[in-house]
Amino acid sequence: MKIGIHDLEVATSHYVLDLDTLAEQHDIDPNKFRIGLGQDKFSMPAPDEDIVTMAAEAAQTLLERHDVSKIRQVYFATESSVDQSKAAGVYLHELLGLPANVRSIELKQACYSGTAALQLAINAIARNPEEQILVITSDVARYALDSGGEPTQGAGSVAMLISADPNLVEIEPGSGLHTTDVNDFWRPNDSTTPFVDGQLSLDAYLAATTAAWDDLAARRELSVDDIHRFLHHQPFTKMARKQLAAMAEHTGCELSDDLIEESMSYNRALGNTYTASLYFALTAQLHNNAELAGKRLGFFSYGSGAVAEFFTGVVQDNYRDHIYPQNVAKQLDNRVELTYDEYRELHESFAATSETFTTSKTTNAPFRLSGVTERQRRYEAQ
Ligand code: COA
Repeated sequence: MKIGIHDLEVATSHYVLDLDTLAEQHDIDPNKFRIGLGQDKFSMPAPDEDIVTMAAEAAQTLLERHDVSKIRQVYFATESSVDQSKAAGVYLHELLGLPANVRSIELKQACYSGTAALQLAINAIARNPEEQILVITSDVARYALDSGGEPTQGAGSVAMLISADPNLVEIEPGSGLHTTDVNDFWRPNDSTTPFVDGQLSLDAYLAATTAAWDDLAARRELSVDDIHRFLHHQPFTKMARKQLAAMAEHTGCELSDDLIEESMSYNRALGNTYTASLYFALTAQLHNNAELAGKRLGFFSYGSGAVAEFFTGVVQDNYRDHIYPQNVAKQLDNRVELTYDEYRELHESFAATSETFTTSKTTNAPFRLSGVTERQRRYEAQ
């Protein structure tokens, strides 16, 4: 039985900052960001947006095409959670009007947990093939002002419907796995922005993804020639190029950047979307390449801390009938560009507080955070 990604949709935030603006204000050559990091812009949420509102928008667009009565589970993967106890998927469940007979949970392991959610969903469907599972990846990457990570901020969600007989990508059995305890990037409970050892995070990423490749290559006797296109977690898109170069050196095979080029267009414009980044890379590859039917994709998932997984999927024959690039274009084009001063003010005004506040209406998205009362987050449809 084939099990995999049946359909997917994306959403991002109301605002965007052009990295040329940041470069100009910080007196940095814009090519450091555009070429050195491979990034053009980053998304930034309005005060009435967060991981839940973006996820609900992506999921609503997705579910308009499907029978929600088949959904039995919601797995919400994030590392920018809005509550230490309640799963973000429960808010989403209410906003979308999903059936009550659903299991809703949240998963965390930095940028990796979307892949954990996907694999758990596949295992669950192997047991109950008639059911479908909604997997959400949704994150806001907010780094400290004037820090090294500042140009690699971002925000976005990918909602995926996982089922038997998928329309888009069959995920093949067998993964390469690697876990190692490393403090390359972490966010303690009392901090709204992460701590990151930038160079260590790059080294840890390369070491863990290569080790995950080795694990799968040994288990499935896989060679790089068996992979038609590689997809990566892209904290900045240059990281995919670095990883491919490391793989070429590691395996002794020539690996051209053509193997990853089509996967980077959305992440260049979104910035780091943490758990969603790998799945934005998948979305871009499916949208930008019309010749993928029957071809195998290799997925490199990485979450600092660190966990990595390498797995593969086969693109289904009629995938072009089930993709909606116009929806992504709308999400990217509708963003409102921030000036540098507006960006600074918005960044400084963010506070992870549960004291009562009301947000001013900014976003045009279908769902918004209206505020907090009695220490409870309040969301509304609009
Ligand atoms: N034109 C073209 N390229 C330029 C340039 C210019 N004018 N100036 C610099 N560059 C290149 C550098 O050569 C470098 O490329 P390389 O890595 O291929 O050598 C790249 O731009 C970045 O320059 P660097 O000096 O290393 O930047 P930095 O010290 O500001 O740090 C990061 C970059 C990525 C380490 C930093 O942005 C960061 O910490 N980001 C967060 C990473 C993260 O989130 N990790 C966790 C998840 S994996």
